[in-house]
Order: sequence, then C-alpha cells, then structure tokens
Amino acid sequence: EKGGFDHFMLKEIYEQPKAIQDTLAGRIKEDKVDLSNEISLSKEDVQQIERIHFVACGTAYHAGLVGKYVFEKLTRIPVEVDVASEYRYREPIINERTLFIAVSQSGETADTLAALREAKQRGAKVLAITNVVGSSVAREADDVIITWAGPEIAVASTKAYTSQLIAIYLLGIYFAQQLEAKNVGELKEVVAQLQKLSEKAELLLQPEQVSIVANFAREIAKHQNLFFIGRGLDYAVALEGSLKLKEISYIHSEAYAAGELKHGTLALIEENIPVLAIATQKALYEKTVSNIQEVKARGAYVLGVTITGDTELNKSVDEVIHIPKTLDLLAPVLTVIPLQLFAYYACVERGYDVDKPRNLAKSVTVE
Ligand code: M6R
Repeated sequence: EKGGFDHFMLKEIYEQPKAIQDTLAGRIKEDKVDLSNEISLSKEDVQQIERIHFVACGTAYHAGLVGKYVFEKLTRIPVEVDVASEYRYREPIINERTLFIAVSQSGETADTLAALREAKQRGAKVLAITNVVGSSVAREADDVIITWAGPEIAVASTKAYTSQLIAIYLLGIYFAQQLEAKNVGELKEVVAQLQKLSEKAELLLQPEQVSIVANFAREIAKHQNLFFIGRGLDYAVALEGSLKLKEISYIHSEAYAAGELKHGTLALIEENIPVLAIATQKALYEKTVSNIQEVKARGAYVLGVTITGDTELNKSVDEVIHIPKTLDLLAPVLTVIPLQLFAYYACVERGYDVDKPRNLAKSVTVE
C-alpha cells in the first residue's frame, strides 16, 4: 500500500509531480485557463468581486497565504487570509461582493466549515478548494475546485499543499483573464510555466538533490531550535516548512520574515543555530542575502535555498539547494519540496512515527 516507500509521507512527497499534473489536467485550453465547466461565477460576477477572503487551517492556511500574493498580483483584488478558528470572531467585513475561498484537503475541518457557513449566511459567494469530492465543504460551497492529489494518508500534508497551490494559480489566472487586468502575453507566460512545474518538481526528487537535504536534516536532528527565514512568497513557504518540521520531528522552529529578525528575534541567533534561508524571489534577493549575512555573522549554520544558476548565495551560506528556474510567483510549488523532505528525514533520524505524529489527527472535526 505504501508502494515500496517506508512511509506514506514519503510516498506522497514523491507523488507530487503527478498531483500537479492531475490538478492541471483538462483545465488549460490553448494557452488559457478554462474553469467554465466547474465554476458558476460569470465574467460579470468576477468583475463584481470587491474583496477575497481565504480561510483555512494549518497547511491549507499556508496555501492561502500564497493565494494572497497570487490574486493581488494577477487580479489587483484585495485579499485577506485568516486562520479559520479566528475568522468569525473578528467580525470580518462580508457582503455580496465578497468572495470567500475555503481551502481544505479533507473538506471536513470543523473550523473551516463553520467559517464557510458564517460567510455564506452573511451573503458572500463561497468557493471551496478541496481534495475530497462530496465532502462537507464541497457540498456547502457554491463552487468547488477539486485538487486531484488523490488520497492523502500521512497526517503531515504534502501533495495536498502543492495541488492547492496549483488550484490557486489556475483560479487567479482565470479571474485575471475575465478581468482583463493583466497583459495577455504575461498571463500566457504564467500558464506556460505552470505546465512545466510537474517536470521541475521531478528534478527535486532525484537522489543527489534528496541526499543534500537528508544530510542536512540528519545534522539538524540533534538541535532543539531552528529558524526558517525568507521574504515575500519565500516567507509563506518558510511558514509551511516550519510547521512540517514541528509536526513530525518535534524540533521547535520558527519561521520569520527575514527583514523582521533585526526587530527582536536576532537576539536568539547564537553560535551553531541552524537557519534555513530561502532566497528564490528575484526582487527581494539582495535584501534577503543581507539578512542571511546578519545571521551568519552571529554564527548560524545556514542552509540556503535558491534558484539554479545562482552563484552568489553559496558565499554567504554553509550549504545550498537549488530550485529549478521558474517564475517568482510559481516558486513555492518547488521550494516546499526540499522543506518537506527535510522534515521527513529529521523525523526519521529522531526515530519518531512519521505518518502518525503525537497528539494530531488527519482530520480535525472539532472546533
Ligand atoms: O483537511 P484540511 O486541509 O482542512 O486540514 C487543515 C489542517 O488541519 C492540516 O493542513 C494540518 O495543518 C496538517 N496536519 C499539516 O501538515
């Protein structure tokens, strides 16, 4: 049942190229995204949307954080992202011009479902991104985009996250097409690059790449504390990498917006503390590198993640992992893969139960 892998989590990490492919399948026609068979929102409906609320928990929330960048960049519609258990209690501003997007692998998460009901009751249009056809979230939403990741068994979510990102890109591009907000050529380029992600994800699962990550993970497994840093979309991915590591390896880690470290947290950086630094975003590269130098100067042991072809980062870090070249906007799909593997190997090294971490359930059906 684990298809030759030691754990479901590892199997599911390796299934990501296929999950990406399957989630894209049938949704791109002649350089354009076509969701018209799945989504009832008309062009006029899309033009009416004033604000978007992404609401989700855990890993799905982290997908929503990427969603904010994607939708704001492609559609210029303001986006808020909330943890589902907080959403209802802050009296969010919701009306008929609000699009509420629930992201949930299982479609059964109680907090997400409760937030969805609240938004719907207050007049929002409700869309669900879920991996389970016929789940509660899918049934109660006005529109559904299924992520075709296939069943996810491991408690730690991996292929569900990457396919949620794919669904978010598809929807963002689809909306941008309707709004005519972006240059057509630019959108076509995003579509073209989206179709190359599956192959590129495959490259990150090659043995040489995996062994760099596994070696770093074995080294780090002795530590009790660790930092993930990045800016922009790299920060969103850092949060997901940190959650994955905490969840299964029980190593305490914190994800920090790299530029924010110097406002307090830098005090925790001491000799030999491991830092996983992500620098895939071109526009933020120089600034991120200077933040990496700040931790390096205080003795941190740094693993850098950057784009293939970069010859600079290795001067400021101890080890480097390269992500195949893609658009900045799409990088999270690739960047997260070594971070998932990192959490996996740290857990294996520590001898914990990878697929069933303590205190956690696959689907959280209590509020
Ligand atoms: O089924 P859902 O996507 O609604 O689940 C949300 C979270 O409970 C889930 O992503 C959780 O954070 C994972 N265990 C993280 O790996």
